[in-house]
Amino acid sequence: VSAAMTEKPWKRYTGGDAKGFVDEMRLVAMKLHTRQQAQEGEMEAKAPEEQRVEEWEPTLDGYLKFLVDIKVVYDTLEQIIEKPSFPSLLRDIECMGCGADGEFRNTGLERSEKLAKDLKWFEEKGYGVPEASSPSVAYAKYLKQLSEKDPQAFICHFYNIYFANTAGGRIIAKKVAEKILDSRELELYKWDGELSQLLQNVRDKLNKVAENWSREDKNRCLGETEISFKFYREIVRLMLS
Ligand code: HEM
Repeated sequence: VSAAMTEKPWKRYTGGDAKGFVDEMRLVAMKLHTRQQAQEGEMEAKAPEEQRVEEWEPTLDGYLKFLVDIKVVYDTLEQIIEKPSFPSLLRDIECMGCGADGEFRNTGLERSEKLAKDLKWFEEKGYGVPEASSPSVAYAKYLKQLSEKDPQAFICHFYNIYFANTAGGRIIAKKVAEKILDSRELELYKWDGELSQLLQNVRDKLNKVAENWSREDKNRCLGETEISFKFYREIVRLMLS
């Protein structure tokens, strides 16, 4: 194992060639994928959810657990964005004075209501919808605490959780749906409006907000990527349980 591999990936980024801060967050996130998950991935696959999606053996029960748990995470993110308790997070979220157009509320990426519809559909079909389990409860608690003490670090989770769902999340959903859901497309993967445009709007806002951050703030935010991956992976793993 080379030194470059054991080094924390985000430590190699100091702003460098990245076009804006979102690019930096993306580069760090891509490196934390396994080679099996994404072309730009640099990690070795160990756990089952780190293998090629084609090799996964998802179960319907597991998928329902995933939906329940990921909803807890989106509920939490959306509650925090709606009512941030930390003044500077509030400022960033409302984006006052950052020059960006608008705020991080109602970006069109919100997933809580969509997930509620998916779970209702399963319920109506007679599937037993489980209780939320420990990874999402732990992640929700972590996100709440972080939003109160470190807005920059919180923003990293906001970026990763919303963007992961539109990238790998959709790839996973398609494969899983083919295997166990008769190719049903869930609301979780539907957006009102053109997704690429919604994502670009959020990227522009994030870039604007981060223009006011020090290098230290940016590095702290990038450093959170690993934690976001750890929690998100535990929740994705539920699909295979
Ligand atoms: C992007 C797959 C897990 C965060 C991507 C891309 C792929 C992928 C193929 C590249 C998409 C593109 O360039 O167009 C997967 C798979 C996963 C996984 C198969 C299996 C579990 C995660 C996790 C996180 C994450 C755990 C973090 C919580 C991201 C982010 C991007 C990304 C932020 C960039 C999105 C963008 O630029 O729009 N993923 N991923 N992914 N993934 Fe994942």
